Amino acid sequence: MDDRPALRDELLTAVQAASSVDDLERIRISALGKKGRITALMKNLGQMDPEVRREAGAALNVLKDEVAAALDARKAALADAELDARLAAERVDVTLPPRPETEGSIHPISQTIDEIVAIFGEMGFAVAEGPDIEDDWYNFTALNIPPEHPARQEMDTFYLPGHLPGHLPGHLPGERDGRRMVLRTHTSPVQIRTMLKTPPPLRVIAPGRTYRCDSDATHSPMFHQVEGLVVDESTHMGHLKGCLIEFCRTFFAVDDLPVRFRASYFPFTEPSAEVDIGCTRKDGAFRIGHGDDWLEILGCGMVNPKVLDNCGIDSGRYQGFAFGMGIERIAMLKYGIPDLRTFFDSDLRWLRHYGFRALAVPSLVTGLAP
Ligand code: DAH
Repeated sequence: MDDRPALRDELLTAVQAASSVDDLERIRISALGKKGRITALMKNLGQMDPEVRREAGAALNVLKDEVAAALDARKAALADAELDARLAAERVDVTLPPRPETEGSIHPISQTIDEIVAIFGEMGFAVAEGPDIEDDWYNFTALNIPPEHPARQEMDTFYLPGHLPGHLPGHLPGERDGRRMVLRTHTSPVQIRTMLKTPPPLRVIAPGRTYRCDSDATHSPMFHQVEGLVVDESTHMGHLKGCLIEFCRTFFAVDDLPVRFRASYFPFTEPSAEVDIGCTRKDGAFRIGHGDDWLEILGCGMVNPKVLDNCGIDSGRYQGFAFGMGIERIAMLKYGIPDLRTFFDSDLRWLRHYGFRALAVPSLVTGLAP
């Protein structure tokens, strides 16, 4: 027992001198481990007279706590020092010049989406989003495309196995009204999600990826669309026309671009139209603008009252217009890209040729295309 002061000094000195967490662990085991020196002294207590034991036991507990506290304190100090050393060693010099080769470029699809957002943003549209994996109620049924409707077949849908969790238990894939998972075939389901979530008045566009089982020079199984939706009490066909004519002229940067509305059919709009822009095709040359030809670029119409009702919006009070267009298609037209498949080849030479400056964000003030 008289060894205690010497043992205390020895252990505390060793703790202070330890230069790593491993050293500290060795000291801890040698003092407080199963066969440690303080542990051994504790074990001896049993053989002592009760009088002596009480005093010796209390003193040993003090020693034990003192050593444990010194170990903890030294460990924290070492951990801090180790962290400081690591931070110093791994410091990044942010003043170094960027890598000399490329500054990177914006993919034409991203550029086109930015341009579309800039134009509609100026008209007061907000950007809405929805998931790429939809269920067929949002993608079809709510848009007035019931299961037996021919439009479902025409869309070349990618169906996923099973149902979305929590939907209509007891329905098997393909069953009537069962909600099957699909890769969305258009951005129109974002109309439904927006109307279910937000009460009118609404003014949104929804750019995003869409999927159809189709692949050739003008079709890719994954492509992009942008949807538009406006719902208010007095929204009418004149607003639809004004909005889309303005968009086409700004996007293609042709002030007097001829724009034609041609009657068409979509289940989710009534009446429906397709929009053509004027162009010239002569001797293999193609030009957007005045000419003797037309080119279809988007679909639109007044939102079918059934669709409003499906979303819990009073179709007696509200009306709206919607539109949808393919982003690759208008990007190809604007930037003279001949083959749609090249968008997704990930060929850096192609990107360097068609890509856009990384930090030149399109705006109506500074110019759409850099
Ligand atoms: N969803 C249609 C398609 O993919 C495009 C479309 C047409 C969207 C008319 C609309 C619309 O919102 O009103 O072919």
